[in-house]
Amino acid sequence: MSSKVLLTGGAGYIGSHTYVELVAAGLEVVIVDNFSNARRDVLDRLEIITGAKVTCYEGDVLDAGFLDQVLAENAFDAAVHYAGKKAVGESVENPLDYFRTNCVGFSTLLAALDEADVRRVVFSSTATVYGKPDILPLPENHATRPESPYAENKLICETLLRQLKTSDDRWSYGILRYFNPAGAHPSSLIGEDPNDIPNNLMPYIARVATGDLARLRVFGDDYDTPDGTGVRDYIHVVDLAKGHIQSLRKLIDKDESHIVNLSTGTGYSVLDMLRAYEKACGKTLPYEVTGRRAGDIDGFWGDPTLASNLLGFKAVRDLDDMCQTSWNWVSRKTNSRNRP
Ligand code: WQD
Repeated sequence: MSSKVLLTGGAGYIGSHTYVELVAAGLEVVIVDNFSNARRDVLDRLEIITGAKVTCYEGDVLDAGFLDQVLAENAFDAAVHYAGKKAVGESVENPLDYFRTNCVGFSTLLAALDEADVRRVVFSSTATVYGKPDILPLPENHATRPESPYAENKLICETLLRQLKTSDDRWSYGILRYFNPAGAHPSSLIGEDPNDIPNNLMPYIARVATGDLARLRVFGDDYDTPDGTGVRDYIHVVDLAKGHIQSLRKLIDKDESHIVNLSTGTGYSVLDMLRAYEKACGKTLPYEVTGRRAGDIDGFWGDPTLASNLLGFKAVRDLDDMCQTSWNWVSRKTNSRNRP
């Protein structure tokens, strides 16, 4: 599959792991990133992992002139779109900023792609478009009831893609709704690298394991789950990245549009994750149980049947893999930072 792919947000957490899998699949990739939530030295580390030069244009998907230049200089067969903001809590505080980046940014990109006759798009969406589940495992045809500006942004982008295809059948899309990405690349050269104190569970536990944070706050242990703590469908970021290659293949080879949940079908609790992380780092990790976090739900996990039947997708990495690769990544990063 020797095609050329535009990868927006390719220096970010999931984007950089997708870059590695795209190159491994024999694709030529060009990254676009504004580095608002990524370090520039990710590109050097991607060159080490892939053994090849990385082509990256620094700029913003909101900048139509910049996008036109990138598209004029490269003949792309498809685009994979990650560039955007993804913190649920932050989206409640800054809905305008989130709409501008996530929705206006995406529509600007789509207009530029259309102008350049590039009409295959893999879109990074989220399972939080479903809101509170009526039934678990979550069926693919579950109603969408987004409960945050972030989730509503993603649903608006999905709707725009569907509207485009209705207006012009030359478009094809792969809308991928993820559950909870976690873990890092086995090389320990790339991984989750949040700028501030993490909202998500695994990067927070990682910071407790490195000693950067004192203890984990377990947000409630009175949920309707086996041990009372929240249960989620954590999916290894490398499995997630590979799912994007399978979605892209569906578009490039057959132009078959699809909307698919990418999940493992297995739910793990907060305490399951904490124990697995202790095993990975060889330390006892302190925690305290606090009140529930606003908006959290008891349990949330998917059904990977459609992804398997449609894309041949199957997550093969388990919670131990996620914790071990995360620990290897953060401990290497901490050691290199402390190195004179
Ligand atoms: C997981 C569990 C918390 C932190 C979020 C976004 C979603 C998606 C994935 C983008 C919950 C508990 C957490 C902590 C804790 N992102 N927890 N202490 O909320 O399921 O989903 O990330 O698409 O949009 O909503 O993930 O990692 O924040 O929480 O006890 O310090 O861990 O209560 O049960 P969440 P999370």
